[in-house]
Amino acid sequence: MSRNVLFISGSPRAEARTKAVINVVYRLLRDKQGNSQLLDLHRHVLPLFNGEPAQQELDTVVQLRKLAQEADAFFIVTPEYHNGISGALKNALEFLSSDQFKGKPVAIAAAAGGGKGGINALNNLRLVLRGVHANVLPVQYVADPHQIDEHGIFTDEAGVQALQELVLELASAVNAEVRV
Ligand SMILES: Cc1cc2nc3c(=O)[nH]c(=O)nc-3n(C[C@H](O)[C@H](O)[C@H](O)COP(=O)(O)O)c2cc1C
Repeated sequence: MSRNVLFISGSPRAEARTKAVINVVYRLLRDKQGNSQLLDLHRHVLPLFNGEPAQQELDTVVQLRKLAQEADAFFIVTPEYHNGISGALKNALEFLSSDQFKGKPVAIAAAAGGGKGGINALNNLRLVLRGVHANVLPVQYVADPHQIDEHGIFTDEAGVQALQELVLELASAVNAEVRV
């Protein structure tokens, strides 16, 4: 059965290591019959959420809501910024709700600065996703800068293996096809 997975890169930075991580998992889980999508919050720039109904009609917001609505599952990677998720990711999630997330499986990972960072961002993301009634998998992953080369490619083999396991967990939660 084909399933749509929405992959979200939660960094607003052009040279984001978060993007390097999302690229790995996006390539691993590309359901041939499904319609998995990649949303990069560096490219998909949203206004600062202000609660005004007019904002909900903006193209970028309509597109975000549609992608999330059509997704059967999510893989979200956040950078760790000041011990939490990025403002860009939190802002994007404020445009969404349990209407798009309720009961859907979500795999999470973080890109941190090294020095044992990442866990706070993941705990923060887990808490935020509880707010939209998402079904966050217990397994998670933290990527450190040394695993990513100067071209922005995630090169660490053990890391790829760990991410592969996370992808398999998500695939089995949502019955998606997986190529590993
Ligand atoms: C504003 C800011 C705050 C940061 N705070 C933390 C932090 O609290 N812990 C940490 O491990 N790394 C921290 N970092 C480093 C990022 O996690 C690191 O740059 C990593 O590559 C993920 O971000 P990126 O996807 O934007 O590259 C911070 C970076 C920025 C720009």
